Amino acid sequence: MGELTGKVAIVTGAARGQGRAMALALAGAGADVAICDVGEARMPSVGYALGGALDAVAAESAALGVRALHGFCDIRRQAEVDAFVGRVAAELGRIDILVNNAGILTGNAPMHLLDDETFETTIAVNLTGGWRMSRAAVPVMIAGGQGGRIINIASVAGMIGTPGFGHYCASKHAMIGMTKTMAAELGAYGITVNAVCPGFLPTPMVEHTAGEIAARAGLTQEQVYEQYLSVAHIKEPISPEQTAASVLYLASEAARVVTGSNLVIDAGWSAT
Ligand SMILES: NC(=O)c1ccc[n+]([C@@H]2O[C@H](COP(=O)([O-])OP(=O)(O)OC[C@H]3O[C@@H](n4cnc5c(N)ncnc54)[C@H](O)[C@@H]3O)[C@@H](O)[C@H]2O)c1
Repeated sequence: MGELTGKVAIVTGAARGQGRAMALALAGAGADVAICDVGEARMPSVGYALGGALDAVAAESAALGVRALHGFCDIRRQAEVDAFVGRVAAELGRIDILVNNAGILTGNAPMHLLDDETFETTIAVNLTGGWRMSRAAVPVMIAGGQGGRIINIASVAGMIGTPGFGHYCASKHAMIGMTKTMAAELGAYGITVNAVCPGFLPTPMVEHTAGEIAARAGLTQEQVYEQYLSVAHIKEPISPEQTAASVLYLASEAARVVTGSNLVIDAGWSAT
């Protein structure tokens, strides 16, 4: 029996990176997990075919002794979001925890030179996608009457400006505003809403972008990573397991009065 035994947790973007670690951490604590993702056929900027990646995370979760449901869901599309959330409610019976983790980091240009597609796609996934998932899941949480936890994976870029990534920065700042507002709106139902703000993790998303920046600047990927680490005060990359631990905390009984907050896991980046 884990602390989350009997609870049902949705994690978006769970085929790899932090979402995978979050799904496994929640399953390890006893929660049944419902995980979704999208592949490059629908979202070329993620740079990989979904293939068996999500199936593998579902199998790893189930091996921890919980129920694990998985499915394709592009969080930009409300019909797919509604179908996935409906399936979770029907097959797993309730929704206690929603982790809005899916996100993209694509394109690197100053705001005045940015193209429409990069800006709009980034907002559609990183901000609107989380809102769509929340809009679908909250009525199920309210109907269940047992409260709930919404955990939005924002970023250090949701708190400070990030030149060259204004589109990403705008999406994450807005996600934090949505977090605070929903915390106020849902407190009466016992639903907490919090953000997690990671700093630099060398996940596939960042590997891809750092590779592009390195190629353009004539640097190695390691040198770009050194630049990212230069603004942190603990000079080491953060691991997906470390941000997953913050999700576990926000899902725990100990955090039942924590709402509307940002849990910053950024190695000190935003401190100065
Ligand atoms: N890696 C970092 O340094 C860092 C820092 C701060 C915040 N974040 C945030 O953490 C979250 C997880 O990112 P990660 O670092 O694990 O990167 P990642 O690219 O490894 O994982 C993101 C996942 O989201 C999925 N996804 C993308 N678009 C989707 C869509 N439309 N519908 C459903 N799924 C979709 C991708 O397929 C991928 O599996 C993101 O929200 C990201 O913005 C990352």
